[in-house]
Amino acid sequence: MKDLKINKQEIIDKTAAFVQDQLKDAESGHDWWHIVRVWNNCKLILKTEDADPLVCELTALLHDIADSKFHDGDEEIGPRIAGEFLTSLNVDQNTILHVQQIIRNMSYKASLGQLDFHSKELAIVQDADRLDAIGAIGIARAFNYGGFKNREIYNPNIPPALNQDKETYKNSVAPTINHFYEKLLLLTDKMNTSSAKAIATERHRYMEDFLQQFYAEWQGER
Ligand code: ADP
Ligand code: NI
Repeated sequence: MKDLKINKQEIIDKTAAFVQDQLKDAESGHDWWHIVRVWNNCKLILKTEDADPLVCELTALLHDIADSKFHDGDEEIGPRIAGEFLTSLNVDQNTILHVQQIIRNMSYKASLGQLDFHSKELAIVQDADRLDAIGAIGIARAFNYGGFKNREIYNPNIPPALNQDKETYKNSVAPTINHFYEKLLLLTDKMNTSSAKAIATERHRYMEDFLQQFYAEWQGER
């Protein structure tokens, strides 16, 4: 008789292979290496937080499988592809529904809008994703994104715009340094778990040091 049960490690390995293949042409902000880093952040947080590791790891792997930005704003495409793939592995229905709920609810843009689902696993994966937006990696990603959009790196005449709503944030064309004040430096306080907050605090300090050095060099002071 064919054994339909596949073990958790096998599910994770197959999902990783699927995601790597799906993202082979992805833009560098949400490519396979972003997924690897979020997955690593997730495993780091799970060392000190109690949650279902299978749901966390699967969601870390699948959360950026299809960005609505590149699919005419279709916010259901990611959860749908993730659900179809996990169904093909015979993953249990509760796990699949949970993974889909987290994907729907975890993006920063979603958190500026209406959040209607909460779980410890969502908290952890969202933290893991946010940790990849700060620190040295966060700085690299921000300037990479700004370069791709042909934004100025800095313009002292354009102040950061705080408290933006979802639409303004999406349509911003401000210099990349502004993004630190509009998002990156706000993330430490938004961490859900104390484990992620501790990691974020160190990465936050690193960004503050970077900004201080940046302004000093801008003024020709050092
Ligand atoms: P998320 O995956 O959190 O929804 P985004 O798609 O908004 O994030 O951003 C992907 C990466 O690009 C992040 O590291 C983010 O900080 C960076 N980024 C997004 N918007 C800007 C911007 N206006 N200027 C610089 N970097 C940005
Ligand atoms: Ni992500």
